[in-house]
Amino acid sequence: MSVATARVGSNIAFIKYWGVADASLNIPLSNSISMTLADAHTTTTVAWDDTGTLDTDVFVLDGVRQSAARSQRLTRHLDILRGLAGVTWRAWVTSQNNFPTASGIASSASGFAALTVAGCAALGLELDNTRLSAIARRSSGSASRSLFGGFVEWEQGTSDTDSVAVPLHGPEHWDLRDVVAIVSSEEKKLSSAGGHLLAKSSPLLDGRIAHVDGWLAETRQAIAEREIHRLGPVIELDALAMHSVMMTSTPSLLYWQPGTLEILQAVRRWREEESLAVYFTIDAGPNVHLICEAETAAVVETRLTSLPSVERVIVSRPGPGPQLLDEHLI
Ligand code: PMV
Repeated sequence: MSVATARVGSNIAFIKYWGVADASLNIPLSNSISMTLADAHTTTTVAWDDTGTLDTDVFVLDGVRQSAARSQRLTRHLDILRGLAGVTWRAWVTSQNNFPTASGIASSASGFAALTVAGCAALGLELDNTRLSAIARRSSGSASRSLFGGFVEWEQGTSDTDSVAVPLHGPEHWDLRDVVAIVSSEEKKLSSAGGHLLAKSSPLLDGRIAHVDGWLAETRQAIAEREIHRLGPVIELDALAMHSVMMTSTPSLLYWQPGTLEILQAVRRWREEESLAVYFTIDAGPNVHLICEAETAAVVETRLTSLPSVERVIVSRPGPGPQLLDEHLI
């Protein structure tokens, strides 16, 4: 057995990835920018069976052995790693998220990044994080960004080798918080992989893409200067633009629930009436991520907890890049 274990943080996108130029390689329609999370991570052990006894990959997630159908995406990703190493071995994969799956924190980002790092290390492939970012991207675009800590930009690129993430600033650059308000932990009906394919059917897609380069520049600048009142408006605008594309695609994707809107309105009220420096963003689901500086996080958390539609709140700091661990889960 060749075995390795990796721990990788999820990430929250400030400027989103939505829609693909090339669906087979996950080449996106634009760059995106995110913050890697310290307190929402996946730990994954990959053990390759070089004895040939296993005839399928075995995947255990949060203590539950996954069915063949639920292991398909994992097996397809392991096929890429097998191809790189020139082996046909099957693998035992055990994975643990320290946050609830389907909580609105992207488990596919940290999951596929951790699988890539542990799987390649266990195969003895010595690849740098840029190369690992390209490999992780193949199964989940947002996973490409989790190969670096802190503040990260995924460059759209045009090919498998240049569509990769680059680090902008380390996690110590700006003590931001992602305060996640969970209004529903139900699993979503359509995965984001399916959603990306629908983006081009929205009449609003071209409008978002025409503006996104300006929003990326504004976001880069706001992060560089640590200006929450510059970052906030542009991340809200882009999240609303992405959801407008989702809602107007065919079929229409409506991820929001009444609780989602309750939070958006509360955040604007807190800002307008009490000058609370907090802004929202929303991924492909009903839960809302509130972005603020460390000093504001406790009051944001208390207020969210008192809203009737909020089931649970998770707070995360900016986190490091991937880590290889000596202790294995198997
Ligand atoms: O990487 P995927 O296929 O799970 O897509 C992620 C899509 C969003 O979370 C909505 C946006 C993003 O950039 O993370």
